[in-house]
Amino acid sequence: MTLIDGKKTAAEIKQEIAAEVARMTADGKRAPHLAAILVGHDGGSETYVANKVKACGECGFTSSLIRFEEDVTEERLIEEITRLNDDQSVDGFIVQLPLPRHIDEQNIIRAIDPSKDVDGFHPINVGRMSIGLPGFVSATPAGIMQLLKRYGVETKGKHAVVLGRSNIVGKPMATLLMQKSNPGNCTVTVCHSATPNIKEICLNADIIVAALGQPGFVTADMVKPGATIIDVGTTRVEDASRKSGWRLRGDVDFENVAEKCEFITPVPGGVGPMTICSLMINTLQACKDNPYK
Ligand code: GUN
Repeated sequence: MTLIDGKKTAAEIKQEIAAEVARMTADGKRAPHLAAILVGHDGGSETYVANKVKACGECGFTSSLIRFEEDVTEERLIEEITRLNDDQSVDGFIVQLPLPRHIDEQNIIRAIDPSKDVDGFHPINVGRMSIGLPGFVSATPAGIMQLLKRYGVETKGKHAVVLGRSNIVGKPMATLLMQKSNPGNCTVTVCHSATPNIKEICLNADIIVAALGQPGFVTADMVKPGATIIDVGTTRVEDASRKSGWRLRGDVDFENVAEKCEFITPVPGGVGPMTICSLMINTLQACKDNPYK
């Protein structure tokens, strides 16, 4: 069994990006600039955005954090997005999700200029990825593709099972894995809450990407020996032995599944650090090699 170390891989990639940014600034160009909009004070979102700002520092990027209270209107948010769209000093920006219930997330995403949509959530970027055109790809699936590539996981002709059909992970993951590329070229099955025989389908999988948000869902009796398991789950579960009172648990019963696998990602330290790293790759691309310009 090989443990796929996302933390180490992300650190290597961030060093590569920092070296590239140093070359750019030595050439008299400005550093890439990522802006983030954060609405409200949700603990998870606060942590994610703080980690994104920290990663910008590690890569030599400029970052801006724009905060709004929970009761901000959709109109005010769109006004801010329009300002960022027009701000030539900002290469890319994100609006941290989820948003409060009174705001229509899709209206917000559609307001972002696709050439600055480094999250890859705008329908134009989703469509471009879908037909294999250059654009921005959602960070979590892009990070998983990097891990498969850097660890030399054979994907061509393999049966990949994606658990979950979210717009952010499941759907783009399935699209990328089926793409005629390396990694890619998989036969893909997507399972979701209405799939009756998930266990049988998983037993047939060479690669499982678990993105359901159900801690410990994938158990050893669902896994074919020699499979590759990618765990996207990051649910906070109670843990009285920790100072915080919680720890992160993935969608995979790691203790029992790991010994059956050829490759497996841990939680934490697997997919999570790669997600932020992909956002950094997208921001560098927005600045240096923007597919829209
Ligand atoms: N919420 C959970 N994941 C993400 C992400 O990748 N980007 C944004 N903007 N919000 C998120």
